[in-house]
Amino acid sequence: MPPSRVPRPRRYLVCEPRYFDVKYAINPWMSENTEVDQDLARSQWNALTDAYRALGHKVESVEPHAELPDMVFAANCALVLDGKVFGSRFHAPQRRLEEEVYAAWFKVAGFEVHRPGSVCEGEGDLVPVGGRILAGTGFRTTTEAHREVQEFFGVPVTGLQLVDPYFYHLDTALFVLDDGSDGQPANIAYYPEAFSPGSLAVLRRLFPDAVVATREDAMAFGLNSVSDGRHVLVAPQAKGLVAQLAEHGYDPVPVDMSEFHKAGGGIKCCTQEIRA
Ligand code: ARG
Repeated sequence: MPPSRVPRPRRYLVCEPRYFDVKYAINPWMSENTEVDQDLARSQWNALTDAYRALGHKVESVEPHAELPDMVFAANCALVLDGKVFGSRFHAPQRRLEEEVYAAWFKVAGFEVHRPGSVCEGEGDLVPVGGRILAGTGFRTTTEAHREVQEFFGVPVTGLQLVDPYFYHLDTALFVLDDGSDGQPANIAYYPEAFSPGSLAVLRRLFPDAVVATREDAMAFGLNSVSDGRHVLVAPQAKGLVAQLAEHGYDPVPVDMSEFHKAGGGIKCCTQEIRA
């Protein structure tokens, strides 16, 4: 019998996809003349935010900006931990204006925002779990930023080297099942081949009981998932992973974000967690 899992209520920041589009290509999932079905994108995003609310989570939103088609990917705007906000500095010039727009939201919400000195894409590459922060690098966030994150939060940062351009952000290759903050053992799910051999050895050492996903499930954005400790909002296309999660005692909640996959994002990318 798998253990019975206990959910913890969360606070999420999201950005509605009013201006979502694929207008430029900054990762291998994107191509310039991609057609986006705006109505479908809107209804998929509504289903995601409705699912959070139905599970008792608090959902807040930031006003979208007409010139920022990727702004819907709220996870990239910051890492918020212990009520402290480490803002972002985007790799792509097309996304730089998001830094200001999100920082302004945080200020109004009563947070001070630390602005990083080098490229850092928030929860896209920074994943708090088990008293440490897993930090991806290789495509976006720099190792300089990892050091700055450790100094800022005073939490150990464990750098992980990403090696496959399809998994350009850590949150496309790994997600947290249990963050360990409520006494349950910390655990993750991940796709091994997205990591360098040394980084993979680190993950195996830290999380010997992790859920290990196939390439097929990873390419279906299965690892861009959000867990509250019990319910896992997960791409229904990642069939094998959905079955594995159920075997491990989690409740998979399928949410199809296929329109957002065209921009290289999914469930987690659209969700910023405010840990205050
Ligand atoms: N088009 C966006 C980019 O390449 C997608 C960001 C997805 N976000 C994420 N957290 N992985 O920057």
